[in-house]
Amino acid sequence: MSKQRIVVLTGAGISAESGISTFRDSGGLWEKHDIMDVATPQAFERDPALVIEFYNQRRKQLYEVEPNEAHYALVELEKYYDVRIITQNVDDLHERAGSTQVMHLHGELKKVRSTADEQLVYTLDGWELRLGDTCEKGSQLRPHIVWFGEPVDMIPLAAELSSTADVFVIIGTSLNVYPAAGLVDYVRPGTPVYLIDPGPMQVSHIPRLTLIREKAGTGTKKLLKELMP
Ligand code: APR
Repeated sequence: MSKQRIVVLTGAGISAESGISTFRDSGGLWEKHDIMDVATPQAFERDPALVIEFYNQRRKQLYEVEPNEAHYALVELEKYYDVRIITQNVDDLHERAGSTQVMHLHGELKKVRSTADEQLVYTLDGWELRLGDTCEKGSQLRPHIVWFGEPVDMIPLAAELSSTADVFVIIGTSLNVYPAAGLVDYVRPGTPVYLIDPGPMQVSHIPRLTLIREKAGTGTKKLLKELMP
């Protein structure tokens, strides 16, 4: 018999216990940096060095952290389910934990791409991108990140995937950023939805919801208990 499919939407909260700051919690990244200065195409045009440095620091940190038990819990689930992860995170902690099916909606920190041809994507060697580093066509490389104001190219695929879920799970996202936050609207009527997040959020619009108001580590343990055959 083929396995049932669990589609998991993750956000910054699943990596919080690995030591990576979230964006909108108190002390989060968007409290320390203005989105308009570091995470828009206009910012990159105005001051590419500042934007490159912002992502260099985040990339450097990524080499210093490890996946946590929530990432590993999703790997464990693969024994019993066809687990498809849709992540808003640009870290690679799902992959390093061992998850085999991971879709990155907002790009990947360890990758860079050409400013002349977005199809030219490279895995950066080490943490540091420099102003003056160029693609094979000679144009400046930029972080492979979906900035505010840029289209989220993976959304049609992610929406299609969400509509095939037998179970939909949301972990560690404030559901503030669209279109990612709207993916839950694509689940088929009657599909059970689990949400693991310790924060307050508006969830009254989500039908058949089981809310686990806990951090990702303990919350995913409960989820495993619930979903293990
Ligand atoms: N475990 C689980 N959830 C946690 C934890 C934890 N230990 N700590 C915090 N959280 C929750 C918060 O309660 C909040 O709901 O994680 C969520 C983090 O929300 P945001 O900071 O808004 O992050 P996210 O939803 O991933 O942001 C979406 O915004 O800036 C962009 O592109 C960026 O992908 C990002 C997008």
